[in-house]
Amino acid sequence: MTNVERAAEVLKRGGLVAFPTETVYGLGADARNANAVRRVFAVKGRPANNPLIVHVAGVVVAKRYAARWSDVTRVLAQHFWPGPLTLVVPKTGEIVDEATGGGATVGLRMPDHPLALALLAAFDGPVAAPSANRSNRISPTTAEHVRAELGDAVDFILDGGACAVGIESTVLDVSGDIPRILRPGHITRVQIEAVIGPIEVAGDSSPARGALLSPGRLPVHYAPVAPAYRFETSERDQVLNQVKAGERLLLISDADGMPMGDDAHIHFMPNNPTDYAHRLYATLRELDQRSSLPILIEMPPNQPQWVALRDRLTRATRPWRREG
Ligand code: TXA
Ligand code: MG
Repeated sequence: MTNVERAAEVLKRGGLVAFPTETVYGLGADARNANAVRRVFAVKGRPANNPLIVHVAGVVVAKRYAARWSDVTRVLAQHFWPGPLTLVVPKTGEIVDEATGGGATVGLRMPDHPLALALLAAFDGPVAAPSANRSNRISPTTAEHVRAELGDAVDFILDGGACAVGIESTVLDVSGDIPRILRPGHITRVQIEAVIGPIEVAGDSSPARGALLSPGRLPVHYAPVAPAYRFETSERDQVLNQVKAGERLLLISDADGMPMGDDAHIHFMPNNPTDYAHRLYATLRELDQRSSLPILIEMPPNQPQWVALRDRLTRATRPWRREG
């Protein structure tokens, strides 16, 4: 038996399988099996009302779990699948209510990763899978991260190496009249609007509504263990002047693709969003492991292509406190 076949067997028995996707590793369970799905919530320590994304092998499978597949949904799936776009649609009864946090919609996604697709084909069913980390912690981008964080709580880990994208999918609600981004991700608003025209973005101006719609938008999320603070590039000199012994700095490199420095306390991140995302979570984990002293993080520019990264960094940090 291959590892993929083994993993599919575990899912069929109601077990939990961690598997790679192009974004981050998922913690998978049969989305039709309430007990299996409950275990996912227990292992993660996730509130029962926070819905899981259901992974599918393609559009034909997706339509089986969607009570409505609108023209816009069809066009988006055609254009962006397989890929990091989760489409929130009205669900059918086959997906257990536990998987969707009791809600009437389900977020469906066809991942762009050969092992994930092989697993979905072998299992031949819908796989509910949140990121394979404990609730409110950093998402895993290697099998080693999953092993370190969840260990024996997972029945099987499919190892596909490091994830290419490195941050989670864009979550787009297409269940209403106007599509709404509930969580920014690798696929940007500009890319989506180029295909279907104007859409909305769930604003932080109505946090209560945002939190209800997509709990991944709660202020504290994706956080490292060490205290982490954010600052804008305009504050960089001030921060450099006031940095204390043992504190680590995560700066944006001036040069494209510049490697991470080996300096004791200054680490450079790439100055393009693709490479930055690919490295972010692994870098935060590494810094976390080395010390529990504060990490001071320079925010990427306030530009459309950095929206998802600014979102994750904002949720992982508190504003840097200036002195004097
Ligand atoms: O890239 C990803 O999306 C990864 C990989 C494994 O696919 N998964 C992931 O899942 O990040 P998770 O559970 O960590 O985040 C899912 C986000 C949460 O913010 C959740 O609230 C939102 O998607 N979500 C899922 N289903 C939803 C629904 N029916 N309505 C509204 N929000 C939903
Ligand atoms: Mg997550």
